[in-house]
Amino acid sequence: MATRSIEHQSRPFTSFPNANYILPSDLKEKERLNKQHSMLKRVFGEKIIFAPISIQPGDEVLETGTGTGVWLLDFRKSLPQSKDLSLYGIDIESKLFPSTDLSAGALHFSVCSVTLLPREWSEKFSMVHQRFLMPALRKTEWPRALSEIYRVLKPGGWIQLCEPGDWSAGPITEKHKAMRRALYDLRELDLECTKHMPTRLANVGFINVQTIDRAMPLGEWGGQDGRECRNDIIAIWRAQKTAILKSGGLGFVKSEQEFDTLIDDVEREWDATVGAETHWVAFYAQKPL
Ligand SMILES: C[S@@+](CC[C@H](N)C(=O)[O-])C[C@H]1O[C@@H](n2cnc3c(N)ncnc32)[C@H](O)[C@@H]1O
Repeated sequence: MATRSIEHQSRPFTSFPNANYILPSDLKEKERLNKQHSMLKRVFGEKIIFAPISIQPGDEVLETGTGTGVWLLDFRKSLPQSKDLSLYGIDIESKLFPSTDLSAGALHFSVCSVTLLPREWSEKFSMVHQRFLMPALRKTEWPRALSEIYRVLKPGGWIQLCEPGDWSAGPITEKHKAMRRALYDLRELDLECTKHMPTRLANVGFINVQTIDRAMPLGEWGGQDGRECRNDIIAIWRAQKTAILKSGGLGFVKSEQEFDTLIDDVEREWDATVGAETHWVAFYAQKPL
């Protein structure tokens, strides 16, 4: 297998120390994340809070890996008492943060890793939300991240997570899947993090662990859902080009053009394969009182 980096045009990536994140941090990614939020809302029946929590005035809520803060801003909008809440978003990359007004509810965005949250935040938050850290956290970092979230939650507080599940379509998709697995193995990422999540949550002490698994069509045949889901996932996979080409193509592609062609072919396969689908999986769990 070639290990020499393959030449290509790279997008900007975070320079946070020891970051393992394989997606870029630029305007195009900001736009994708904001669109993805609307799509996911539809996937989950327009709900953005799954945990059975009643938010009270004075409560503090944290989002780890907040990106553009799109979930946090929507959360603020959805609550009548939002002006009495303090909302915190952390991320390893400030370039993605929103340029937002602070007119309703206190909003605080800061740079840090979910694997090492501020010491003074112990038992501060009523709820912590985290979505799509699968392309960032090493297998060894998941327990550390979940125990940091556990530490900063108040007793009785809730964690809510969402990650992509498995997907299926046809032989080209399977080839891409094998390439993605090789990348994830190389970067020590957990492609099956949704399978491991309930046990990981229980292992750090969470109780009342619940899973919500939603299947969505992939491709033109699936109407608006199929198109939006396809566009989002294809954009993610195109954005992983640098990670794959920097690692010499991992034995699957030998040039930027071969990479682009493979993703084009995956896209065509989804459009032509009735029944192609992907899963989105949400979890919530409680810190015991
Ligand atoms: C796929 S994006 C999702 C953003 C947001 N949660 C959403 O759903 O729109 C993943 C985010 O996690 C951030 N990230 C990666 N590693 C992180 C870490 N160790 N701690 C905190 N944030 C991290 C990235 O910078 C990026 O903004």
